[in-house]
Amino acid sequence: MTINRLLITGAAGNLGKEARNHFHGKFPHVRLSDRTPMDAAREGEEIVQCDLTERDTVEKMLEGVDAVIHLGGQPNEADWDTVINSNLIGAINVYEGARKAGTDRIIFASSNHAIGMHERATTIDHKCEARPDTRYGLSKAFGEDLGRLYSYKHGIRCMNLRIGSCFPKPFDARSLVTWLSYADFCRLLEVGLTADYQFEIVYGTSANKETWWDNSNAERLGYKPQDSSEQYRDEFDNMHFDDPVGEQLQGGMFSANEFSFDLEKLKKLK
Ligand code: NAI
Repeated sequence: MTINRLLITGAAGNLGKEARNHFHGKFPHVRLSDRTPMDAAREGEEIVQCDLTERDTVEKMLEGVDAVIHLGGQPNEADWDTVINSNLIGAINVYEGARKAGTDRIIFASSNHAIGMHERATTIDHKCEARPDTRYGLSKAFGEDLGRLYSYKHGIRCMNLRIGSCFPKPFDARSLVTWLSYADFCRLLEVGLTADYQFEIVYGTSANKETWWDNSNAERLGYKPQDSSEQYRDEFDNMHFDDPVGEQLQGGMFSANEFSFDLEKLKKLK
């Protein structure tokens, strides 16, 4: 399907701004949404300022939309109410609006924290069991399953990006492994908007030297990362957490905070 109108949620956020600039002028209409005010619309842009929990407004916002890049939501750990409202109710409203509007595809900003209780010593791929490390991570696993419902039952193509650490540069030893450059993030979005698929999970990571993720599924779909965290290794290699749980599990401090199980027992579970 040719994309006439693209919707970007969370367009006022860090990744939203990158996506907005990257896709400016590439489609006839780009609709930008966030609850936070955004810069004024340029040619070809439409602004819809709303909270994703406002069901009727969100459904109206999806009208005429061919593809969605769903970035809006709570981006890290928070209390249940915040996570449920922004990431569960918000996502449900977007997917339901997309179903009613006949939207072709949704790219969902999932997170590595949907699988953060896996050990760093284990290499996982897109078929691994979800092991959320936080309420936030659970909301991302939910978002992936929401995609399964709308993809296999209603035919919406869904690509779930388990984004690692998408920032201008890494900021500690863990993010040397999980880093996704802004340019590679945009490359993944291009794949999500153009590849032929029904439901996919891929990892949002650059071509870093060290990785815990087999991202061959993304490569199969056409993703060719061009950046690597290696150039920053000397700056951050020594910035480790002084915490055995945070150091051994993929989610780092997200896994360690509030941890009350036994790390050795957890490591024996396959
Ligand atoms: P951000 O916090 O800069 O952007 C999120 C945007 O969502 C904000 O502009 C906020 O106003 C908006 N938002 C939050 N709740 C909302 C609601 N209820 N209604 C309407 N708008 C709402 O975060 P960032 O870094 O741009 O992340 C974008 C997405 O990517 C998030 O879903 C995040 O969970 C996900 N992600 C990002 C990673 C990263 O490294 N930046 C890593 C993994 C996932």
